[in-house]
Amino acid sequence: MAQANPWSAYIDRIREAHTPEALDTLEHELFGRKEGAMTLAMKALKDLDAEGKKQQAQELNTWKKQLTETIAEQRTALLHPSDDALASSDAMDITLSLPPRERGSLHLIPSFMEHAADVFGRMGFDVATGPEVESEEMNFDMLNIPPDHPARDAQDTFWVQGKDKRVLRTHTSPVQIRYMREHKPPLRMICMGKVYRKDADATHSPVFHQLEGLMIGKDVSLANMKAVMVNAVRELLGRDVEYRFRTGYFPFVEPGLEMDIRWQGDEQTREGNWLEVVGCGMVHPNVLKNCGIDVEEGDGVTPRQLNPTWQGFAFGFGIDRLVMIKHQIPSIKMLFEGDMRFLRQF
Ligand code: DAH
Repeated sequence: MAQANPWSAYIDRIREAHTPEALDTLEHELFGRKEGAMTLAMKALKDLDAEGKKQQAQELNTWKKQLTETIAEQRTALLHPSDDALASSDAMDITLSLPPRERGSLHLIPSFMEHAADVFGRMGFDVATGPEVESEEMNFDMLNIPPDHPARDAQDTFWVQGKDKRVLRTHTSPVQIRYMREHKPPLRMICMGKVYRKDADATHSPVFHQLEGLMIGKDVSLANMKAVMVNAVRELLGRDVEYRFRTGYFPFVEPGLEMDIRWQGDEQTREGNWLEVVGCGMVHPNVLKNCGIDVEEGDGVTPRQLNPTWQGFAFGFGIDRLVMIKHQIPSIKMLFEGDMRFLRQF
């Protein structure tokens, strides 16, 4: 019986190679520089007589070409398996059930921000942004904060090194200025983001989040401010939220107020069960002037209602505190620690 041609056996083996490594081994077996089967066969040609050499060389060259091409084809097939090959391959067991994948979700803070953008959006407020590294001018001067105000003190503010007197913004209020300089009144905007202060305890963190709001119009009053803010906290925290307004001082508003919300903090932080969540008030005329908004002083005779001027309110909520109240979280730190056992609860 004629012996099977060794080269055609190689062709079969190449087609059966299922991994790139197996293919490399075969290639080496055939074409290795010292011991390769084809290499040795080529070398052996020199021992043949002229006629035999010619015939044999022709035959070997045909096989060599075919083997090389088959290797190349198989290599491509392994890199890009066809759908048929995939379907018939037992490498994929479609009956195998994998452990359930954990679904990610937004962290409490960005998720609250999305909700807030929606609530204020329905009241006609635009969402604005501003830089976290802010100029001293925007963060303080333009907001009518005098040079000797304690908030500028190194106690509270992180200063950025360099000659140009920049700070990590201590509040989102500078975005009011940026917005009013770019948009003409009437306007309504909110801005949410990170702010920075050298401060840390159960209700303070060096990085926290604020939600700034601003509404300017010809007839916008403190009553409008109260309506907007009460509606917002009810939507965000629940209909039965208990709140109170107190007077408060901020250089960029006159009059200024603060709002507290009742919550169940832990013993150390309860502060009589009320937690301050927002500063607010009617935007100070100096701030409007700094933004090029006309504030007519009035002639002292014409009733104001007959000659309305631009005026409005602003507020700055502490987002982290609202989130703490909403979910009864006793310490602000829990929002930033990244402990999955805590985060998975929400
Ligand atoms: N920027 C103030 C702070 O961080 C909060 C604030 C108070 C914002 C009154 C306002 C406002 O817009 O009108 O303490």
